[in-house]
Amino acid sequence: MPPEFPAKVAIVGAGYVGASTAFALLFTPLVKEIVLVDINHARAEGEAMDLAHAATLIRPVKIYAGHASDCAGARIVIFTAGANQRPGETRLELVHRNAAIVKEALPPLLPYCPDALILMVANPVDVLTYVAWKLSGLPENKVLGSGTVLDSARFRHLLSRHLHVDPRNIHAYVIGEHGDTEVPVWSLANVAGIDLADFYLLDGTTEENALREEMSRRVREAAYAIIERKGATAYGVALALSRITESIIRDEKAVLTVSSVIRNLYGIEGEVALSLPCIVGSSGREKILAIPLGSEELAALQHSAVTLQETIAGLNL
Ligand code: 2OP
Repeated sequence: MPPEFPAKVAIVGAGYVGASTAFALLFTPLVKEIVLVDINHARAEGEAMDLAHAATLIRPVKIYAGHASDCAGARIVIFTAGANQRPGETRLELVHRNAAIVKEALPPLLPYCPDALILMVANPVDVLTYVAWKLSGLPENKVLGSGTVLDSARFRHLLSRHLHVDPRNIHAYVIGEHGDTEVPVWSLANVAGIDLADFYLLDGTTEENALREEMSRRVREAAYAIIERKGATAYGVALALSRITESIIRDEKAVLTVSSVIRNLYGIEGEVALSLPCIVGSSGREKILAIPLGSEELAALQHSAVTLQETIAGLNL
């Protein structure tokens, strides 16, 4: 589909994540219309009113609460509806509750927006990306999950704080599950193209022992740490979604670690949805960048894939 903007976006689920995503999208000039769909229509109406007032102070964006038929013409359906993790709960533990919500809420709206891309956000996002792909019958490139875009940002944030470098000059990816088996790809992390060991040399420092393990843990447990303190995460994922949306609508071809269905890659047998660096443009996932991995990273990615496949198998799709 040729890039067309400003575009219409449908957001399913008007909770913290859905509403924060709509708010984040106001700051891009790429969206002219946002429909919020929620089983609690009054909640969607309340958020839409508040957001519409906010939009008045930025640019005219039409924001309203709607139903399935109001998704007509949407370029992207961002699916955030679902239960959130409670403190200490894993994302995978949400699977039965949230798969049921996807099964109920997604199919009725798809006939109204047959050209839309689906952007899954609800957790466990990789499993639900797979469920959405199965239910929708859409090609693999058109069903994305927010995946580890946020984890990659968290990884870059920690590296940035540690190295005293703008995170925009740090390239570092987290791949695999958006969850406990995720894999930070240390072997490819670099500052402006300079790998980390060389960067430390330039800086006259050396990497402290155990630093990698500690940072990987903090990235992996970031959501738990936030949920323990404020009950939910929202702004990080909202900006990750805004970034993915921008790259789709403007056909930017940004490299983003979105989740999508893969097969026959990295020795992973069968199908699974997980995150790898992908080129994201107007047709969704345009290319998977099969980056070289160290042997431990490869084994960890395969473990992540098996964990997700076992969870998918438990759903009887
Ligand atoms: C996050 O990582 C909870 O998946 C959500 O912020």
